[in-house]
Amino acid sequence: MTDPKPKLVIVYGTGTNNTRAVAEGILEGAQDEGVDTVLLNVADIPKEEIIAELSRADGIAIGSPTYNRKPIPAIVTLAEMLKDIDMAGKVCATFGAYGHSGEAPKTLKRVLKPCNMEQMEVLRILGKPSGSTLDECREYGAEIARNMLEKGGEK
Ligand SMILES: Cc1cc2nc3c(=O)[nH]c(=O)nc-3n(C[C@H](O)[C@H](O)[C@H](O)COP(=O)(O)O)c2cc1C
Repeated sequence: MTDPKPKLVIVYGTGTNNTRAVAEGILEGAQDEGVDTVLLNVADIPKEEIIAELSRADGIAIGSPTYNRKPIPAIVTLAEMLKDIDMAGKVCATFGAYGHSGEAPKTLKRVLKPCNMEQMEVLRILGKPSGSTLDECREYGAEIARNMLEKGGEK
């Protein structure tokens, strides 16, 4: 039997859908590299179910826009919950749309540090991604996927 493909779970929060568009770009880029993907909006699904999905993933990407210099509370809560389960060694990306200061992805990265995942550089996109910034989202998704596939090869 062939090994199952590694799975990337992308979870995002959003106020006006710009971070959703970033997440969708990441999804496309990752799919093009041949990993399985799941895309979840934190507002649509109970957090316990999201945590269960994340715990089964090989890579995770967590996104939030910056509002008042912070990530949105639902995403921070989710990130805090991950500290209570074993996430060590998974590939971890954080991302978000922003307007001027864009602290959220770095704040999330800091919150997730105790999970001992393989954390990537953050992706920050000004406003709604399009053209070259949408390409940047796709390339980031591809990079996440390649990192996951490389790790799969180490097994
Ligand atoms: C009330 C309010 C507060 C904001 N605060 C910040 C901020 O502190 N830093 C920043 O970079 N952008 C800030 N923004 C801009 C948003 O981050 C930006 O519009 C982003 O693209 C929204 O993403 P979303 O569509 O995923 O919600 C703020 C926007 C609003 C409406």
